[in-house]
Amino acid sequence: MDRQARRDLLAERTAEAMQGGGAARIEAQHAKGKLTARERIELLVDAGSFVELDRFVTHGCTDFGMQDQKVPGDGVVTGHARIDGRLVYLFAQDFTVFGGSLSLAHAGKICKIMDRAMEAGAPVIGLNDSGGARIQEGVESLGGYADIFLRNTLASGVIPQLSAILGPCAGGAVYSPAITDFIAMVDHTAYMFVTGPEVVKTVTHEEVTKEQLGGADTHTRTSGVAHFKVPDEPAMAGLLRELLSYLPQNNMEEAPRRPTADPVDRACTALAELVPESPNKPYDITEVVRAVADDGRFLEVQPHHAPNIVVGFCRLGGRSVGVVANQPAHLAGCLDVAASLKAARFVRFCDCFNIPLLTLVDVPGFLPGTTQEHGGIIKHGAKLLFAFAEATVPKVTLITRKAYGGAYDVMASKHIRADFNFAWPSAEIAVMGPDGAVNIIFRRELADAADPVSKKAELVERYRDTFANPYRAASLGYIDEVLLPEDTRRRLILAFDALQTKRQELPPKKHGNIPL
Ligand code: HXC
Repeated sequence: MDRQARRDLLAERTAEAMQGGGAARIEAQHAKGKLTARERIELLVDAGSFVELDRFVTHGCTDFGMQDQKVPGDGVVTGHARIDGRLVYLFAQDFTVFGGSLSLAHAGKICKIMDRAMEAGAPVIGLNDSGGARIQEGVESLGGYADIFLRNTLASGVIPQLSAILGPCAGGAVYSPAITDFIAMVDHTAYMFVTGPEVVKTVTHEEVTKEQLGGADTHTRTSGVAHFKVPDEPAMAGLLRELLSYLPQNNMEEAPRRPTADPVDRACTALAELVPESPNKPYDITEVVRAVADDGRFLEVQPHHAPNIVVGFCRLGGRSVGVVANQPAHLAGCLDVAASLKAARFVRFCDCFNIPLLTLVDVPGFLPGTTQEHGGIIKHGAKLLFAFAEATVPKVTLITRKAYGGAYDVMASKHIRADFNFAWPSAEIAVMGPDGAVNIIFRRELADAADPVSKKAELVERYRDTFANPYRAASLGYIDEVLLPEDTRRRLILAFDALQTKRQELPPKKHGNIPL
């Protein structure tokens, strides 16, 4: 073979690999509103930056006539690229090749880029679209999955791992995305479940559609398995790029600073009257976040699941910050099982990746009731407490209104090592709300009163004047300063500036035992 013939062979092999499962299957993929693996990568990364690896890998299966069915690449496109100029490793499953199903060779390609990403300290992005284990291969495919699960686990807390679900993701295959840091799903084309509708029907006699069982809506609202729902694949690419912009490359680095024209001392005049005079009236805590954040930008994570707590990313003076905030507009901002889990996982993510935490507190307490108690609110609430207490990143807390009971302690209080604790003048910090407190400590007076209603109003007022303000906590140093709402942005940025070089160690240990 001469030089030209060798070059022609490479071109021919490359063209074959680029075709994936062929024109008809590509057309079928497009007809479902889905893009091919290569189109997805092109949409996601900086133009021309993708470098493919293992383009010619094929499977080694010889059963069921598979020795005659080999497609170069074996159903997954892998490599590295740049997003906003920053290195990422990625894999994109190609549904046009054996339904994107996972063979041992396919798994080996994913493991290879995960190993390179760990060594280079760069994020891994998985674009998942797969019929699951390659049925013709059997246990080799299961072994391949486990090889990936192990790497997902070892990479956890070292490099950010993002999962986009762009088609089916079923059986044990769901556990790779589940171990990664964030899962985003495309509405109506993505679904995730451990056992599909047919098996569910056989075992439990439930009739359920794929969408109801494990669609994007189900997982972003009900189960909390996924963090983001996007309407289509271009929106997915935009989301992943935006999410990455808040994250460092690895656990040894800090997230990139993004310069802003938004003045660091901008007064937040809209906040002056945000908290209603009546303590029982709701308001939207995301208004506080948007008012203080650079350019009003806030990427909310899991906005539809456990909406009584808000988590997400913003920037303050160009610095990436993770926000955890009680939401008085839902369940009065009470902490419940779902909210505790959502916030605890987010706090731990930020702590892994050196992202400072801003906690906004307006919490009347833990949600009472048998559903919560029997659902394990004790151990789940403890996870949030554990996560905040363990976090060594800079922690700044602002109490906007209520901080009652155990929830006061849990929500990044001074006692669990928050660095700066601020309160607005509207803050009420006490063991419980004035109503409940008066019922207990003045039970006898109320029973003996000639006019119990006006007596109670008088006692509630007295209790409120004594305890329902930030000054008792401030006199003890539990609150470092009482701020005017309009001054919040300036003061938060100064606080995070003063914590830039914070170093705090945990006692030596293998790992803690978070109450799982
Ligand atoms: C091999 C597969 C495959 C698989 C799909 N294909 N899934 N090949 N192994 N797991 C092939 C099909 O034969 C078909 O090939 C092509 O991919 C497209 O599949 P269709 O069925 O035509 O597509 P669609 O109608 O969109 O349905 C997609 C699907 C369905 C819902 C994913 O294919 C399906 O149910 N597949 C089986 C899913 C499954 O049971 N997987 C194993 C789960 S157990 P042709 O040549 O016709 O184009 C598991 C365990 C993991 O994953 C454990 C990890 C620990």
